[in-house]
Amino acid sequence: MRVDTEPARRLLAWYDRHARALPWRSPPGAPPPDPYRVWLSEIMLQQTTVAAVKPYFRRFTERWPTVEALAAADDAELMSAWAGLGYYTRARNLLACARAVAARGGFPDSESELLKLPGIGGYTAAAVAAIAFGRRAVVIDANVERVVARLFALTDPLPAARPALRALADRITPAARAGDFAQAMMDLGATICTPRTPACILCPLESLCAGKADPAAYPVKAAKRPRPHRRGTAWWIERDGHVLLVRRPGRGLLGGMRALPSSDWGDSPDETPPCAAAWVAAGSVSHVFTHFALTLTIRATTVGTDCEPPLEGEWWPVDTIADAGLPTLFAKAAAALQKERHDQPTP
Ligand code: ADE
Repeated sequence: MRVDTEPARRLLAWYDRHARALPWRSPPGAPPPDPYRVWLSEIMLQQTTVAAVKPYFRRFTERWPTVEALAAADDAELMSAWAGLGYYTRARNLLACARAVAARGGFPDSESELLKLPGIGGYTAAAVAAIAFGRRAVVIDANVERVVARLFALTDPLPAARPALRALADRITPAARAGDFAQAMMDLGATICTPRTPACILCPLESLCAGKADPAAYPVKAAKRPRPHRRGTAWWIERDGHVLLVRRPGRGLLGGMRALPSSDWGDSPDETPPCAAAWVAAGSVSHVFTHFALTLTIRATTVGTDCEPPLEGEWWPVDTIADAGLPTLFAKAAAALQKERHDQPTP
């Protein structure tokens, strides 16, 4: 592969002046950061914005400052700490990976060895190898895809264009300053080569860019199928100031997370309540997952202290529901219920 050096030269000079200062980064040109912090940030940043990740990254590194500390974490505590970040398989794999790394005495420093660890796919292996170990690696996320598609005016539509994009990214990836180059591409995509109205006039690659006449045309995307819409019911069962929370099965969507009991979610779910009681309608919430949108109707009841609903769960104080580590869908449901109650005129 012929390496085209001019884009990297310009981009790194730009990065030296404009790199974003982020808590998991070393400044441009400085020795690499702790691999643990690089790996943790890269897992958190998948499908999640920098702004959303920052407070989680801070809390995680304060609570678990090393990979060994994370390896010794309690599963339930870790799942609660992850609550709100979404894509909960990441949290389960995070723990499995931390344990594997602690057992082998540290992170491996090559892409191929990193790839063998739980939850580390091609993107993360390349990012950690480049950023934490200075290894030349082709690091491509959605921002980088956009930069490369524009730079070369690639007309093949995504996702079929991925191998071609990788080959083009490979062509401009330098051997030196691999981590800075990867993060410079990400920063360029996040701050200048943005999806809408890119700031081409500020771009260090502008005069090399084949797509600059119509950047909005790239990357070309194949038509998407519409997201299906599912519905279901969540049950708010209250007893003496406490609400019944269950833990979702380990595998599948929101696996291992605390939740309100709910029906299954589908086109026509079975919404029979889990126990006979005086149920009242208590609003609804909508939430968009990757593969479907969901509207969850909330129904509420208050039962006597002698009542044990036929569900395995824990009674959580309603006043501290914000500390239960509920994923966003159920946190929204709890908030909707409380708002509904607040808005009801008192009888
Ligand atoms: N997105 C994914 N990884 C990133 C990083 N290291 N810096 C900024 N944005 C990112």
